[in-house]
Amino acid sequence: MKITSTLTTALISATVLFYACGGKEKKTVTEDYGTPQETIDAPDVAADAITQGESLVKASDCKTCHHITNKIIGPSHTDVAKKYEFTKANVELLAGKIIKGGSGVWGEVLMAAHPDITQADAEKMARYVLSLDGETEH
Ligand code: HEC
Repeated sequence: MKITSTLTTALISATVLFYACGGKEKKTVTEDYGTPQETIDAPDVAADAITQGESLVKASDCKTCHHITNKIIGPSHTDVAKKYEFTKANVELLAGKIIKGGSGVWGEVLMAAHPDITQADAEKMARYVLSLDGETEH
């Protein structure tokens, strides 16, 4: 009986010791967040709007009538970029056209209206289109 209890005590001690060590090891692993990442630069807001605009244009129906460099139903978006200076006023003008649609600037064919596109998204799309000739907003 005495032997058994000594053995049990020894076993328990060994177990406690084992878990104590195991626990410590685990802690070390949890605290390791790996090597620090490179510092991320502050986001370039202007470039960001253009990138978002590009995604929005690609996700919308624009490509049915517009190609980046070729005229299809509507003018090529690069021709639109060449026609207009990349200014805030023209961003607003073209955003309005994207939402309301219309015709008469490039011909008689009607540009479809996009009433579901918000003003903010339409402006991002306009910024993307206006950036296609390499011009930056001024
Ligand atoms: C149904 C065909 C069609 C679709 C869809 C369409 N467009 Fe157009 N778009 C046109 C036509 C046609 C014109 C030329 C309108 C004109 O002569 O006034 C045009 C003109 C434009 C212009 C120049 C506007 C101006 O006044 O000079 C922009 C910018 C433009 N589209 C962007 C877009 C974007 C962005 C989308 C997607 C959200 C889109 N379009 C979807 C047919 C379309």
